[in-house]
Parts: sequence; structure tokens; C-alpha cells
Amino acid sequence: MRSSLYVPANSPSKILNAPVYGSDSIIFDLEDAVLPEKKKEARYLLQEMLALEQFSGVHCTVRINDVRSPFWKEDLRMLTPLLSTARAGSLRVAKVESQHDIILVDRVLSAIEGEHGLPSGIITLQALLETPLAIEEAYRISGASERIEALVFGAEDYCSATGIDRYGLITALDYPKSRIVAAAAAYGRAAYDTAYGAFRNSEGLEQEAIHARALGFTGKSVIHPSQIEVVNRIFSITERELEWAKQVLGSSLCADQRDGVTEIEGMMIDMPVISRAQRILARAENQMR
Ligand code: COA
Ligand code: MG
Repeated sequence: MRSSLYVPANSPSKILNAPVYGSDSIIFDLEDAVLPEKKKEARYLLQEMLALEQFSGVHCTVRINDVRSPFWKEDLRMLTPLLSTARAGSLRVAKVESQHDIILVDRVLSAIEGEHGLPSGIITLQALLETPLAIEEAYRISGASERIEALVFGAEDYCSATGIDRYGLITALDYPKSRIVAAAAAYGRAAYDTAYGAFRNSEGLEQEAIHARALGFTGKSVIHPSQIEVVNRIFSITERELEWAKQVLGSSLCADQRDGVTEIEGMMIDMPVISRAQRILARAENQMR
């Protein structure tokens, strides 16, 4: 998923518009974008809206409130039956701070799946890591459940907690970002970068996206439709990368019959390079869908 567009779950016009902008995925937000007194209304609205035809074939996710809030269980109870109808197969859990948070969500989800006669584990989870504690716990969070499909960085809360200037030095967030990428990779999960809140500054967004890709993220959240083109472009596999991957995979066949090591244009090609080429090919196929 290169781009995931956040859409406030209490805004009918934004929800209805959301599928037309070309993001790879849509995240309906029941957390920070919705005031506590509006949560209930937002859940009902989302239930109605997600049943509409225009969301079929669109990858949808719902961001639910964190497990320390009074809202998350009701979010799960109301949305899970709907999620399983394939309109939205995954939940993004806000402010995950430990493996126990995930284990808790996993248990409640399993119970709801059981009640509705759904296959166990059908709903997947994206864990949003946005506090210093979450960053330190990233590996355990990543391995906490088979349901985890991705770890996602949230910079705003992290910057508030640490005092880091969110729009200061571009490398200032390398530590939490790299920890997330490594923890995600350790369990074969995807890693998605934080949203860029200064949505009128497309140059700043582009720089941050390029940096995030270099650190190993494969996508980024966006909050405004104008950010989608930039993020899709930066996180796309380029023609050159694709050519390289095909060349490597072509050559690896010969290498198998020899030493397991060969060379293309002065670069050693061995097993880790071959698996990188396979991942590039898989991502290129995904982005063409
Ligand atoms: N999803 C769907 N549509 C969106 C959108 C979004 N996130 N953000 C903007 N739009 C639509 C607007 O409705 C408007 O549509 P229209 O031309 O049909 O009226 C168009 O894009 C242009 O919007 P614009 O006027 O530039 O912005 P805005 O002032 O309406 O909205 C924000 C600005 C920041 C409030 C809005 O982008 C937003 O709500 N973003 C998501 C916030 C969120 O979910 N935060 C929590 C996660 S960090
Ligand atoms: Mg947040």
C-alpha cells in the first residue's frame, strides 16, 4: 500500500468523495479526527456508508480508538461484522504501546468473529506506534499476533512527547522510524510512514516521502487528496528498478547451476539480492492492480 488516505468518519461528504482520489487505501478515522461526543454518530454513519456500492473493490481500513480509551470495544463491536463483508478487512489500532494491547484486541476480535460465525483471524490489524514506549516495544508488538499486517509510525504524538520539532531536521525521526522498519521486517510485516500534516507544502511532503522510502518504508499515510499523487509516485517501483529485478531473476537461474553467486554490471548477485529482486517484482505487480 503506497498511500493510505485518512478520512474523518463523521464527514459524509469526505467519506463519499474518498474513493475517487486514487489512494491505494482509505482509512476511516474514528480516533483523533472525531470528538468524543461524536464517536457514536460516526460509527453509525460509517456502518451506513461502507455498505454503499462505491466502496466495493476499494481497500478500506478503520482506525479505532486506543485500548486505554472508553471507545475501542464499541468500535470493534459495531464495525467488525461489517469489516468482514470485505468492504474493509483491517483495523488500524491507535496508540498501541505494548504486545498486551494487541493481545487484548486480538481476544475481543476472536470473540466477535466467533459470535458472527466468521473465520477466525479474518480481520487483520495495523498497529500505530506513536509514543516513545511504543517505539521501544516495537519488536514485541510486531510479533504479538498473526493478525498484524503492518506497523505504522505516528509522528505527531511522538514529537509532542519527546519535544522533537516535527518539521525541523529531516533526520530527527530516523531512530523511531528505523526501529519500526526493522521490527516490521523481523516478522514479515509492512511498514508505513506517518502522515505529513502540513498539507499545503508538497515540497516538504516529497522530501519526507523520499527519506522514508530510503529508510525502508513502503508507503505513507496522507490526510489530504492533494498528497496522494506525490506519495504514490515516490513509493512506486521505478522502471529502472523493475528492469534490474528482472535481470537479476533471469541471471539467478544460471547461478543456481554454479556457485550461487554471479555478477551484473559490476554488482555481486547472491541470495539476498535475489530475494530483494523478488520483493521488487511483487510490489510492482501490486501497484499495477
Ligand atoms: N478525505 C476525503 N476528502 C477530502 C479530504 C480527506 N481527508 N480532505 C479534503 N477532502 C476534500 C474536501 O472535502 C474538498 O472537497 P470538495 O472540493 O468536494 O468540497 C476537497 O478535498 C478540497 O479540500 P480542502 O478545502 O483543500 O481542504 P478542507 O479544508 O476541506 O480539509 C482537512 C482540510 C485537513 C480538514 C482535511 O483534509 C481532513 O479532514 N483531513 C483528514 C484529517 C484526519 O483524518 N485526521 C486524522 C488522521 S491524522
Ligand atoms: Mg495520533
